[in-house]
Amino acid sequence: MPKLVAPSILSADFANLQKELDAIAAAGADWVHVDVMDGHFVPNLTIGVPVVASLKKVTKLPLDVHLMIDTPEKYIEQFIKAGANYLTIHVESTKDPLQVLKRIRELGCKAGITLRPGTALSAVLPFLPVVDLVLVMTVEPGFGGQGFMSDQVQKITELKRLRREKNLRYLIEVDGGINETTKAHCADADVFVAGNYVFKNDYAAAIKKLKEEV
Ligand code: DX5
Ligand code: ZN
Repeated sequence: MPKLVAPSILSADFANLQKELDAIAAAGADWVHVDVMDGHFVPNLTIGVPVVASLKKVTKLPLDVHLMIDTPEKYIEQFIKAGANYLTIHVESTKDPLQVLKRIRELGCKAGITLRPGTALSAVLPFLPVVDLVLVMTVEPGFGGQGFMSDQVQKITELKRLRREKNLRYLIEVDGGINETTKAHCADADVFVAGNYVFKNDYAAAIKKLKEEV
């Protein structure tokens, strides 16, 4: 499968989001990655439901919404109504991830599960049969522009092995510190999220590099 690229708009110019979305679409982006942070689950505040709804109005790219918030069950319906195509929750953020993931799907959205670097992969294994996407974090969630944690790569390899072994269908996405060098360690991932690497370089050149087979 060709690699998909999801630029993280956390690194975009927030005063010109429509322009930025048009530019990444023209540059070959497949999805838009939207980092939602609540100042509790992670020590940063970013984007909420109204911004997701506004993004939806001005782009045809699928919205890949990464929820870094506590008790996501309170907000999933609003994010889906606002236009999220993928909604990814952290396994550490809710008491009952299974219920939340099932609800996301019932509401007609693709469901994703993710985990912090310090969380063992075993924490997400029960949910693999009910997700469309598994996101492997290669930085501590909270901020763009951090360094890639290569010790997380084994989770990607293991997720690919498990997908084959159990005949499952989820996409494997990697997020944090991805660039033309670090992506070579993530050849088993299907979707690359990249914030700084895309938005601080020539968008089309950066996206093309990320799509090249290793
Ligand atoms: C971090 C976010 C990432 C981040 C990626 O909490 O989940 O999506 O914006 O940014 P870069 O690619 O700059 O590490
Ligand atoms: Zn993210």
